[in-house]
Amino acid sequence: MRGRWPGAAGAGTEGAGAGAPPDVNASFAVLAGDGIGPEVTAAATAVLGAVAEQFGHAFSFEYGLIGGASIDATGEALSDTTLEMCRAADAVLLGAVGGPKWDGGGLRPETGLLRIRKELSLFANLRPIVVPEALAGASPLREELVRGVDILFVRELTGGIYFGPSGRDGDRAWSTMEYSVPEVERIVRVAGDAARGRRGKVTSVDKANVLEVSRLWREVAARVMADEYPHVEYEVVLVDAMAMHLLARPRDFDVVVTGNMFGDILSDEASMLPGSLGMLPSASLGAGRPGLFEPVHGSAPDIAGKGIANPLGMILTAAMALRHGLGLADEAAAVERAVEHVLAAGHRTGDFGGEVGTVEMGSLVGAAV
Ligand code: NAD
Ligand code: IPM
Ligand code: MN
Repeated sequence: MRGRWPGAAGAGTEGAGAGAPPDVNASFAVLAGDGIGPEVTAAATAVLGAVAEQFGHAFSFEYGLIGGASIDATGEALSDTTLEMCRAADAVLLGAVGGPKWDGGGLRPETGLLRIRKELSLFANLRPIVVPEALAGASPLREELVRGVDILFVRELTGGIYFGPSGRDGDRAWSTMEYSVPEVERIVRVAGDAARGRRGKVTSVDKANVLEVSRLWREVAARVMADEYPHVEYEVVLVDAMAMHLLARPRDFDVVVTGNMFGDILSDEASMLPGSLGMLPSASLGAGRPGLFEPVHGSAPDIAGKGIANPLGMILTAAMALRHGLGLADEAAAVERAVEHVLAAGHRTGDFGGEVGTVEMGSLVGAAV
């Protein structure tokens, strides 16, 4: 049975799991990172342990450094050693990187994350936004507005302003947003494929009234959708208006495809539909294995080390690793059902005003699996 979270049946970049036979001896590379990264990652691997036990699989976990933890140990935000370990794994789990310790100039932990996405060619970042029934009342938005929301953001991840020419010259600095035709084609195809397995609608978000790069995006997206997905409903929305429509009528959206930075910002905004950034999972996929599975949230320095972070985003990320990374759809659905079950029973972490800690939440989900 398909769980609701991935919302992405058929969201395939080929090879990244879709249709692969169950790999019952799966290896995970685990990059816990900084801040709450290690805390939520431990909860997720505990749940994966419960899945392995329940389904008779053998999962192995190999740990590597990324981000600030890697800078401190090796002087690099991502070492070749970690990268090779990841390439050899069936799926990579990432907690979070960054924190005030490394904000003072010099090497930034975030460069490690950008590098691994680029090195593994993970151009498609799937960010499902689902409001489970138990959380409909937890959103700062009105319940009747958010009940039943099921959006799949398809965020382009290896291009755009994150990777365009940038620099600094005296009192000037620049970061450039660039997209090429093939980059837009391939991400729009991910969105079109995903929509076919869902409610059959794609919304492309850009800033074509101002940016030349968005005008190219819009032309290419329209052509791909018309030529290759004639039965998928297609619309375009400007990004500023989208920021509003997301809160005003979130149920109108099915698959939303957009560039790297717009997708980053809109998905954090969308986290208020289920009510916490700590709820959102993601999968970063490319043309082959391994995929990188990372929650949408960051290292949350304000709550790190206290054992109170919500691990459900990371646990649902592990579910996406099972589905998209290993082709284990039933196992993924079991994790998603377990999360819904635990929420329906009323268990809540601090971000929802509850008392349940990170470790306990992981145990509750593991037991429910
Ligand atoms: P953040 O996502 O870390 O935190 C934003 C807010 O959400 C904070 O109040 C935090 O406590 C809360 N929050 C986030 N995850 C939570 C969880 N699981 N449970 C409960 N509350 C949660 O964003 P920020 O504070 O702007 O950034 C902190 C650092 O994280 C920065 O260095 C940033 O670059 C980095 N970052 C990393 C990633 C990543 O590794 N994928 C993603 C986003 C930000
Ligand atoms: C995310 C994060 C990252 C991004 C940063 C930490 C590089 O915000 O995954 O959403 O902007 O992609
Ligand atoms: Mn972000």
